[in-house]
Amino acid sequence: MRFEGKRVLVTGAAGGIGAAITAQFRAEGARVAVADRSVDGIAADVALPGDLLDAAYTDGLAQAAHDALGGLDIVVNNAGVITRGPVTETSDADWALSMGVNVEAPFRICRAAIPLMAAGGGGAIVNTASCWGGKAPGPNHALYCMTKAAIAQLTQCMGMDHAHQGIRVNAVCPNEVNTPMLRSGFEKRGFDPDTAVAELGQSVPLGRIAEPEDIADVALFLASDAARYMCGALVEVNGGKPVS
Ligand SMILES: NC(=O)c1ccc[n+]([C@@H]2O[C@H](COP(=O)([O-])OP(=O)(O)OC[C@H]3O[C@@H](n4cnc5c(N)ncnc54)[C@H](O)[C@@H]3O)[C@@H](O)[C@H]2O)c1
Repeated sequence: MRFEGKRVLVTGAAGGIGAAITAQFRAEGARVAVADRSVDGIAADVALPGDLLDAAYTDGLAQAAHDALGGLDIVVNNAGVITRGPVTETSDADWALSMGVNVEAPFRICRAAIPLMAAGGGGAIVNTASCWGGKAPGPNHALYCMTKAAIAQLTQCMGMDHAHQGIRVNAVCPNEVNTPMLRSGFEKRGFDPDTAVAELGQSVPLGRIAEPEDIADVALFLASDAARYMCGALVEVNGGKPVS
């Protein structure tokens, strides 16, 4: 029970990776406040549904979790959206959505959470970057990669700036993960997601793409005391398949 008594906020908790992170924290003793557009049907201790594009909601999320849980020890900024295509096929709406969810929301949540955590003696923040952008650019996802580069850099900055307060900020950088985000992309392009996921797995040295639990395990490690000396790290979780 690594997280006995810990109070956790997870965004994007209804998604593939977020659901796995939430379930694993709760299985290891944490109490978890879940945030997503809808959190119906998610087993959690506190439900904080809302739209991360709503600045008032996002600014208040850390405080709401803190008030409901009696403190805040861990924040996982996991929610994200993917915009595909090169810059020339990217609309203003794509820009606003991707920047809003992938960059501005974690910025707002961290800005609010850090003073609360500092007042409580410290804590851990785990952001979700990506191999795509977080570590190296990938093809035909210009906006997505840019947002993940931004959150990766913000993570490194906050990791330096807030270590002295006992707050560790790190990011997990997955490559392809078998979640609705990936599967919906295959569906949109007319592929059967099961077949496409199996075929994509052949390109990974470990022989399969990641399952949400593979990423959740690393996110929980970064949030745990075992990572007590890690600040500003970008941890690639890629099955041996870097973006090159
Ligand atoms: N799936 C992959 O291959 C992959 C690879 C690298 C990084 N990631 C990152 O992992 C994180 C989780 O992705 P996932 O694959 O589980 O995706 P997912 O689509 O299954 O889950 C994302 C969740 O974020 C929520 N969300 C999006 N916009 C929101 C908004 N405006 N307000 C509130 N909630 C909102 C969605 O409702 C959804 O439940 C994302 O940050 C993603 O960029 C995923």
